[in-house]
Amino acid sequence: MPEQNRALIERAGVDVDKLLEMLVKAAAAEFTTYYYYTILRMHTVGLEGEAIKEIVEDARIEDRNHFEALVPRIYELGGELPRDIRDFAGVAACMDARLPEGADVKSILKVLLEAERCAVRVYTEICEYTHGRDPRTYDLALAILHEEIEHEAWFEELLYGRPGGHFRRGRPGESPYVSKFLKS
Ligand SMILES: [Fe+2]
Ligand SMILES: [Fe+2]
Repeated sequence: MPEQNRALIERAGVDVDKLLEMLVKAAAAEFTTYYYYTILRMHTVGLEGEAIKEIVEDARIEDRNHFEALVPRIYELGGELPRDIRDFAGVAACMDARLPEGADVKSILKVLLEAERCAVRVYTEICEYTHGRDPRTYDLALAILHEEIEHEAWFEELLYGRPGGHFRRGRPGESPYVSKFLKS
């Protein structure tokens, strides 16, 4: 763990244990979301479903990228992931994005939108907590937040016709903001 970095951000007023708890809960939400979105995407079927499959896929892969980007920072700060995946899933910052009863496209979209809205809240909170105090975590949380707000806008557009400015990513799950944090 980079001791100096930890000391500096503590001196700036960050409770590192509290921050680590926020980051682990956020990472757990990304990981479980990735799992649930896999199921949701499988169930986006038929003509209507086919139209949104690609967008669900972008959000699914980008959420996995968010998990990947968060983990190194957690370890850098001296934290770790729970050894048991059941414990990990249990602390997720957002509710499970379960396949809804009936599994029609509209109710699937509602589940997706709620999940994205939760993510927007989670990263807004981490940005607020780290702003001006822990620039590295702030920059990471901000990059994720940019993508979560886009995800929210995509599903709002699909559900309510509110223009979200979505155009397909250059490649699926491109992560235009978070990719700089991903180690290839
Ligand atoms: Fe995410
Ligand atoms: Fe997302």
